[in-house]
Amino acid sequence: MKKIIVANWKSNPEKISTAISLARASDKKGAVIAPPHIYLDIVGKTLNNAFLGAQDVFWEKYGPYTGEVSLSQLKNGGVKYIIIGHSERRKYLNETDEMINKKVVAILEENMKVILCVGDTADVHKKGISAVKRHIEKQLKADLKNVSQKMSKNLYVAYEPIWAISTSKSNSLGKADTPEDAVRVISYIKNVVDKKIHGKNIKVLYGGSINIKNVKEFLFEDEINGLLVGGASLRPKEFSR
Ligand code: PGA
Repeated sequence: MKKIIVANWKSNPEKISTAISLARASDKKGAVIAPPHIYLDIVGKTLNNAFLGAQDVFWEKYGPYTGEVSLSQLKNGGVKYIIIGHSERRKYLNETDEMINKKVVAILEENMKVILCVGDTADVHKKGISAVKRHIEKQLKADLKNVSQKMSKNLYVAYEPIWAISTSKSNSLGKADTPEDAVRVISYIKNVVDKKIHGKNIKVLYGGSINIKNVKEFLFEDEINGLLVGGASLRPKEFSR
């Protein structure tokens, strides 16, 4: 199975000119580039090889929802993948599983691809693997309510341990999970999704402090179907390698 590498730029960069050069340098086959909404149009026009992704969406197609960007707007703007339920949105914007579920269902009904993020906090992680599994299963059950087997062909899940996010710099390993532990949780995610919606070939990515030093060991694992990359996606040379 082909692996995908998703660049999550988060609220970066500060200027449109930097966004354009970053997009040019990251435009590789197999990549999904997810810039902030304000740069979607220009980044979409810049990419020839990579797919365009978005970092969030509102669940309605259009209407009176001040400040939100709608599903039709993203679809008509060439977006193929949408990241939903990132831990930063759950934390800073109080996004609940109920909201996340509405977004997931709306995106899948529109036949677009969703990258649903789930992950354990440092406190849960300290309690051990069984606690992590319970935590993730609870999120998946709530976030995938009313998702059918048929819809699951466009479903990607990203396992992002929250304690591992944003800890790596270009010259250090940071606190990424070990590939072995990530594989254990990712296999469990595949089982849970299979039991819940009979989604057999669900693709599960790993995210959290991936950089040029540790990327190979994660990509080497068959069970990991791709990566969600934050910080390193803003370092164009590193990302394109
Ligand atoms: P990171 O971010 O690679 O900077 O840890 C990953 C993410 O939050 O998607």
